[in-house]
Amino acid sequence: MTKKYFTTPIYYVNDKPHIGHAYCTLATDTLVRYWRQKIGTENVLFVTGTDENSQKTVDAAAKAGQEIHEYLDEMAAIWKETWQTIGISFDDFIRTTEPRHIKTVTDIFQKIYAKGDIYKGKYVGKYCTGCETFLKDSELDENGHCPAHRKAPQILEEDNYFFRLSNYETPLLKRFEEDPNFLLPESRRNEILSFIRSGLEDVSISRETAEFGIPLPLDEKHKIYVWFDALINYISALSTEGRKDFWSEATHIIGKDITRFHSVIWPAMLMSADISPAKEVFAHGFFTIDGVKMSKSLGNVISPVDLSEKFGNDALRMGLLSSFEFGNDGDFSLGNFAQFYETQLAGGVGNLFNRVIVLIHKFMDGRRPQASEKKDRHWNRFCEKMENKQIRQAIEIFFDLVDTANQTLNKTEVWKLAKIDLPAAEKVFGDLLGNLTVLTKMSEILLPESHQAMSDMIGNAESVGEAKILFVRQA
Ligand code: MSP
Repeated sequence: MTKKYFTTPIYYVNDKPHIGHAYCTLATDTLVRYWRQKIGTENVLFVTGTDENSQKTVDAAAKAGQEIHEYLDEMAAIWKETWQTIGISFDDFIRTTEPRHIKTVTDIFQKIYAKGDIYKGKYVGKYCTGCETFLKDSELDENGHCPAHRKAPQILEEDNYFFRLSNYETPLLKRFEEDPNFLLPESRRNEILSFIRSGLEDVSISRETAEFGIPLPLDEKHKIYVWFDALINYISALSTEGRKDFWSEATHIIGKDITRFHSVIWPAMLMSADISPAKEVFAHGFFTIDGVKMSKSLGNVISPVDLSEKFGNDALRMGLLSSFEFGNDGDFSLGNFAQFYETQLAGGVGNLFNRVIVLIHKFMDGRRPQASEKKDRHWNRFCEKMENKQIRQAIEIFFDLVDTANQTLNKTEVWKLAKIDLPAAEKVFGDLLGNLTVLTKMSEILLPESHQAMSDMIGNAESVGEAKILFVRQA
């Protein structure tokens, strides 16, 4: 039986979740729901969590005047609750301060060390704590600042342990050649391939000066570099009984900003530890809000919980995922979102379900019409898109089916037809109920909170259910 293992990045806890994080987590959750429906819940594993052994966290705890563990517990709970509030169906939530993770990191470190891929050296470089990484001069902007964090990096000079990433150029290129899906989309794959071909340098994997983190097994004065530790979470989560088989089917969903870590350093670490790399990495794009980059200083950082309180979880999910194709950069417009809610959700799918069910009650006393059994081309196309992770296109197919059903209603004027030719009208109702059934099946993936109400409306073998309002109009 096929298995699927989906992961999101584990998030830094120096701040609360914003809709950029929610976008990644909701997209992963949507893919997970598709696969659960297709291959069974027990064959899909979905893990998310928090990345806690970071200098950012130490600084944030100090700023909040809290003891580090107290701060971490509070923040990890906020992340977990946020995901629960917005309807993320994770199977496990991993924290990198948990014993199961620390043990796995220590084991993998030992394996890599035993391979001869770890050595001690001196590092002098420019370090950005925002990125938790050393930056090359060529990566800095014209002011010598980190372009992502707009801050000058710190000059660090310290003894470090290094990982021989340079040993893995050829095996990595081979892995990419063997499997065109190892990293997608294509644009990211090409970018990473040319990065590998330009020559890989060894990477530092310990911090002598770090105040907090997992101690280096060889030398307790050092802490393991946060990224080396964080990537291993994907394996730590499988230490629970019965999960080992999931590894060969792992898909990492990430943002494009962390592609190198996931498709160069991580597979090389795994190869060194004699573990096969994950099956695939998919890097999505970043989005602006109404054309402007999201940033604290601009005050346009949006909380997913605020949006979901106003419009509901289904609208949040569909609104974000339909704004631009998964894998591309895009824009999320609050104005378009409100309009999407009114026209597509309330006026489109909500109105369609309500109208059809009301009409079946009116003209057929709620008896279930013979639903048309024809294999639906919409459904097949929808599956194809979901399997290619083209979530936006899958959503378009959903709304295309809503339009098809609305056109059937309007073209046949079934409410008039029913008065003059009931058998003909019953056939139309059957076709419409067939459409609603396919939409309901799609809703288990795209609109999970409305799914039950949609199923209830479709009813059982004898009769349809009561008509309900799926999306209350806001205006
Ligand atoms: N802790 C690391 C990941 C370790 S994974 C082993 C990290 N954390 S993060 O919290 O800074 O960001 C995680 C992910 O959030 C990014 O890769 C990206 O997927 C997502 N996003 C953060 N801001 C975003 C946007 N503005 N837009 C889209 N996604 C965004 O990096």
